[in-house]
Amino acid sequence: MTDTLTPVLTDNWDQERSWTLEAYESRGGYGALRKALGMAPDAIIEEVKESGLRGRGGAGFPTGMKWGFIPQDNPRPKYLVVNADESEPGTCKDIPLMMATPHTLLEGVIISSYAIRANKAFIYIRGEVLHVIRRVQKAVQEAYLAGHLGKDIHGSGYDLDVVVHAGAGAYICGEETALLEGLEGRRGQPRLRPPFPAVAGLYASPTVINNVESIASVPSIIEHGHGWFAGLGTEKSKGYGIFSLSGHVTNPGQFEAPLGITLRELLELAGGVREGHELKFWTPGGSSTPLLTAEHLDVPLDFEAIGAAGSMLGTRALQIFDDTTCVVRAVLRWTEFYKHESCGKCTPCREGTWWLVQTLAALERGEGSEADLELLLDQCDNILGRAFCALGDGATSPITSSIQYFRQEYLDHLSHGGCPFDPAASTVFS
Ligand code: NAI
Repeated sequence: MTDTLTPVLTDNWDQERSWTLEAYESRGGYGALRKALGMAPDAIIEEVKESGLRGRGGAGFPTGMKWGFIPQDNPRPKYLVVNADESEPGTCKDIPLMMATPHTLLEGVIISSYAIRANKAFIYIRGEVLHVIRRVQKAVQEAYLAGHLGKDIHGSGYDLDVVVHAGAGAYICGEETALLEGLEGRRGQPRLRPPFPAVAGLYASPTVINNVESIASVPSIIEHGHGWFAGLGTEKSKGYGIFSLSGHVTNPGQFEAPLGITLRELLELAGGVREGHELKFWTPGGSSTPLLTAEHLDVPLDFEAIGAAGSMLGTRALQIFDDTTCVVRAVLRWTEFYKHESCGKCTPCREGTWWLVQTLAALERGEGSEADLELLLDQCDNILGRAFCALGDGATSPITSSIQYFRQEYLDHLSHGGCPFDPAASTVFS
């Protein structure tokens, strides 16, 4: 089974001091940058378009197409912003990537900035992870000293400065326009789109915002060519990605594989669901993506197939829950998170997530009646598609999908007068 893995970004994570410039260059690091600087910027955009790379932050928007939206006739400066505000529950791929090989990200930042003709790039890292911020800052310093950053990079005439920005720890700042507000020094709340950031983003200038993993994938595309990348994965979901397995799994961790691998295959690589237990439900890409169950073990983990199964690929944060987990309690915990993180800008999300928690908590305590399940679905209905940004929609996903698959478990709470599960049996959400 191990030949299913395609370690590219994760290939050197176990190399000694893998995060240093010396280690990165010892395995050919910054070779793609030298190659890219010899190419025309548009040729790089074309290469990324042809590769089929789609955003790895969750939405899967075609990266090259996004770069192509940058109006080059606009006289304002262009910016690249890396969204390193990874906060989706269960998502844990960008932080290890930045810790293990920050130079892969930086090389991607320089190539991508050159392609879109940006002379300034920002890496926005969530504020709680100070160790990551320090590591990336150190890598930036090393890159400047080596001439990979700054003026006239490798004699190409191209200048680039990189700023590492620490967020303040708000989930909403992972939403790209709220991130821009934060970067500009304002309270993190989303902006109306359109205009999309590619047209009017940071300081109202054309801005490309990409996730860490998307940008870190660029050097490999330049090095090996778009055909190599497009040869991996499925027809419409090309390339490889990091799949993060957590929860009730024997060997949790990061598994880098072509898109289209199945959870069954990944679980085999990860030693299976913890011994003596069975898979009950899982998230394909964090808690904002509708839950799936054991019947979906063979659904290819690509944007299309997971969509057809009623969920979303999202961030490939595969949270695994076995038969000891109370789905109602798990969903309540996620909903409390969304309520806490709602930025308050729009009523459906601000008020709606509060009501969701009230209704869910009562059901979890075994209070109320079956009609409260309909009330809960009605509350979801009043948020879905009516909130200002994706946070509101995301909050409803675990609720509606859990009722779809585990309605009886909600009813069991009512007939049991509380949670029928032993909280000590489950190691998560207990
Ligand atoms: P979206 O689909 O609205 O946009 C995706 C990207 O494409 C954005 O950069 C947007 O600017 C760009 N885009 C879309 N249409 C465009 C157009 N017509 N012109 C120019 N650019 C365009 O998705 P959104 O709301 O940005 O993100 C939602 C996703 O974020 C969810 O699918 C979820 O999986 C993910 N997410 C990830 C988190 C994390 O920690 N990585 C946290 C929360 C959500």
